[in-house]
Amino acid sequence: MVESGNTFSIETFENEYRNLMVLLKDKFYLDLFGECGGMGRCATCLVRVSGIRGKSALKNRNEPATLSKIGCTDNSVRLACQLLITHDLDGAHIEIFPQE
Ligand code: FES
Repeated sequence: MVESGNTFSIETFENEYRNLMVLLKDKFYLDLFGECGGMGRCATCLVRVSGIRGKSALKNRNEPATLSKIGCTDNSVRLACQLLITHDLDGAHIEIFPQE
């Protein structure tokens, strides 16, 4: 996990948090992160990810449309609110986009 240029290792367990956005807000006190509350519409919970496995590697629900709306074509960029806390994230590298 990378936040403000610093690297952290976070341990959690399946379903401890509703999704990755909620986990990141809790761990890093990110004020402007996740403004729509996890609906997948605001794109304020952007993260760059690598090492995600399984079904979590696929974008679904509102994620493709929201990323397309902001002009994002980078496959490694995801909405943290659309990533559930499952074993698919074990060992994943996640970088929080700098907040404006
Ligand atoms: S919290 Fe709004 S898109 Fe993720």
